[in-house]
Amino acid sequence: MCGIVGYIGNRNAFPILIKGLKRLEYRGYESAGVAIYSKEINTDKEAGKVADLERVAEGQDQGGTLGIGHTRWANHGEPNYKNSHPHYSENKRIVLIHNGIIENYASIKAEMIKRGYVFNSDTDTEALVHLIDEIQKNEKCELDEAVRLALNEVTGAYAIAVFSKDNPDRLIGARKGSPLVVGIGDKEFFLASDASPIIEYTKNVIYLDDEEMAIMDRDGNITVKTIQNVVKTPYIQELELKLEAIEKGGYEHFMLKEIHEQPKSIFDSVRGRLDAIKGIVRLGGMSEYENRILKADRIIIIACGTSWHAGLVAEYLFEDLARVLVEVEYALEFRYRNPVLSEKDVVIAISQSGETADTLAAMELAKSKGCLVLGVCNVVGSSIPRMSHAGCYTHAGPEIGVASTKAFTAQVSVLTLMALWMAHKKGTISDGRFREIATELENIPSKIQKTLEHCDAQVKYISEILKDSNNFLYLGRGYNFPVALEGALKLKEISYIHAEGYPAAEMKHGPIALIDAEMPVVVIANNQSAYEKIISNIQEVIARKGRVLAIVSEDDVIIEGMAEFTIKVPQTEECLSPLLSTIPLQLLSYYIATMRGCNVDQPRNLAKSVTVE
Ligand code: M6R
Repeated sequence: MCGIVGYIGNRNAFPILIKGLKRLEYRGYESAGVAIYSKEINTDKEAGKVADLERVAEGQDQGGTLGIGHTRWANHGEPNYKNSHPHYSENKRIVLIHNGIIENYASIKAEMIKRGYVFNSDTDTEALVHLIDEIQKNEKCELDEAVRLALNEVTGAYAIAVFSKDNPDRLIGARKGSPLVVGIGDKEFFLASDASPIIEYTKNVIYLDDEEMAIMDRDGNITVKTIQNVVKTPYIQELELKLEAIEKGGYEHFMLKEIHEQPKSIFDSVRGRLDAIKGIVRLGGMSEYENRILKADRIIIIACGTSWHAGLVAEYLFEDLARVLVEVEYALEFRYRNPVLSEKDVVIAISQSGETADTLAAMELAKSKGCLVLGVCNVVGSSIPRMSHAGCYTHAGPEIGVASTKAFTAQVSVLTLMALWMAHKKGTISDGRFREIATELENIPSKIQKTLEHCDAQVKYISEILKDSNNFLYLGRGYNFPVALEGALKLKEISYIHAEGYPAAEMKHGPIALIDAEMPVVVIANNQSAYEKIISNIQEVIARKGRVLAIVSEDDVIIEGMAEFTIKVPQTEECLSPLLSTIPLQLLSYYIATMRGCNVDQPRNLAKSVTVE
């Protein structure tokens, strides 16, 4: 986690860094800091948000044209002033910012203390900056060589930006396990954790690979090399990202904007890949491995958080439509439990950011066992697609709110395409059935639009009534069980209300003990199958005076007469129903959180991109 930015060129660095940090704040927002060279290295840091740093630094901008900035999600050391980045070497000679974890920092720190270094923070990062300093002094080398040698001594993950007052014409960046993008302008360079701070200055970027470093000079020269000292020819790509995509566009919060973008994000994710009339799914990314995928003994899905919930929906889709065995695994559990894997397994890694450390580590393990690894990812050029053998992007556009919304429905849409593709090729569904589902998938964007228009005011009204509850239970069956989990996750992460999701039928095995007049129970009841059983579950809640909020199909009359609140969503194929039932749950968590005064885009303790284990 953490966001890093850097600049070297002819412009004033401070506004570039501050603006960039604001764009990267989704990666961490517990403290922020900048270091700028202007005759000497000047630092401003502050516990809290980038806006707090901006206030503190007001009037102190001395116009330097070389600088680095950091927004932090704390891992080593509290998020206070002393632990805020940037960190210095002795006498403020070298300054460095870091995203990631130096796993062997304790032994490096002990050695540096033995050699007389004084530590001013509790961070792992400070050990690295002292190590670089020590190496440079001993080897009498340039800073970039000292950085390279130091990086050979550290284990763990890093994206760093570093410079020294001895050579204020040079900026150095390096990465392993944490992302780093270099923007190339006219005799100027930008460094950032993603392209959003760079986009308005240049479209030409280099995505550094693991263990690569970039050495950038003020006269426009750049060298990319590995930490093993192999010089690389950099691959310069043109950014497709548009500035509007990373701005709020009139909405109060990114989360609300992203909820409302879902008709478009699903349309974009399906567009060009599905032709319901011709009965075709085209997934270019997977065609090369068609035989292997169709012959797979099983599909193992690995992901975390909301992406894991999308994986659970996919389990129902693949088993139901393509008749293939599916297992859905939390990435970190998978990695550490010595799973039985073979070359006949296909692994699908799902991730919005493409940088989730747990998912990347699980993919690495699967690859080492010979599995075919496919990626379903939203961020183009991120680590997960680069580590996959093949895969499909979701085209949801940048998701900035920490709570994932449009990425989830885009993932489910793309996984539906993958299941349909496999089912069609294997012949496990008829051509007619394929066309029915495909046609309905094409209709989903307009049905989401309708859902958003029809339920917004109603959800707001219900939120006002339920916002002070301390607990919520979410129940769903079949395809909508993962939606119950996702609804509960959304509520807890942005409103800090305790919420749990359960398969509706599992309620009687324990959670029913929680139900009383204070307990709102959200029941996702727009499935056609098991409809009567869902009604029984609702009755069990009502009998214990629980307050039922049911998500039902537009033609429903029975549940409407029972539940305290009902929200109607358009009718659809059962296998596509999660795409609609999710929408009111996203709005419910959004409105409850805003009514409770919570920061929905940057909830406490969280970060958008979890690049540490
Ligand atoms: O970027 P990823 O999809 O790999 O992220 C996985 C989770 O960290 C993420 O879904 C997290 O649970 C979200 N905050 C949920 O809203």
